[in-house]
Amino acid sequence: MFAKIQETAEAIKDKMGNKAPHVGIILGSGLGNFAEKVEDALIIPYTDIPNFHQTTVVGHQGRLILGTIKGVEVAVMQGRFHRYEGHSLSDVVLPVRVLAQLGIKKLILTNASGGINNNYQPGELVCITDHINMTGDSPLIGPNISELGDRFPDMTEAYDNELNQILGEAANDLGIDLKSGVYGGVLGPAYETPAEINMLKIIGADMVGMSTVPECIAANHAGLKVCGVSCITNLAAGISPTKLSHDEVKVTANLAREKFNSLLELAVQKMRK
Ligand code: HPA
Repeated sequence: MFAKIQETAEAIKDKMGNKAPHVGIILGSGLGNFAEKVEDALIIPYTDIPNFHQTTVVGHQGRLILGTIKGVEVAVMQGRFHRYEGHSLSDVVLPVRVLAQLGIKKLILTNASGGINNNYQPGELVCITDHINMTGDSPLIGPNISELGDRFPDMTEAYDNELNQILGEAANDLGIDLKSGVYGGVLGPAYETPAEINMLKIIGADMVGMSTVPECIAANHAGLKVCGVSCITNLAAGISPTKLSHDEVKVTANLAREKFNSLLELAVQKMRK
């Protein structure tokens, strides 16, 4: 497995010249447009990256973009892989591990999610303070890749306090009402039943989504500092008066994109050191 990670990282290094990304960003459903903020961009389609799959979800392009945002070197993934697409979790987290090999120190995970907390409205942004892994699975199952990290990585600060503070400061500077909350990570691809949402609420989840958790685990294992921004694209099942659809998710993410883009841009700038 480590050889596959290295092979992928080497193929990207061959193309990237003297670029040295410091912050990695994974863009969620409908949020890919942020990649247009990258200056001096080197765009590598996933088709040109060995071991990367194609993204199959509408709203997820498949491109790695290396460049700068406000002078900070970044590696932006426009489109991610999900377990529900049929990929193994080790393939789902391969990009995170590859970005770690490319030298990033910080990782910003973004996603679209369904709001469970009564205080959340569609279109709002939430700083992910913690997660609950409801997938029953982990990307670390199997022999430990000791070149990356420990067998039993600590997850006490899975979402880094300092990075969360930076997100809060950036939101404050921009006058954006950034909520904070716990992300319940599920497998999908069917949306949840109202009973499942009720359970998630009782156990402490503020929002629910089908990504992010495996990536966060793999990133912590690899020693990266992680933070996450979730865009509430809909009220979760049973809370929403209407049925759920991916179209609603894309439309709402699109409505929030200016706010999302400015928040991320300023936060990246503040992650310089
Ligand atoms: N549930 C799960 N994943 C999601 C949702 C949801 O309501 N909205 C966006 N991603």
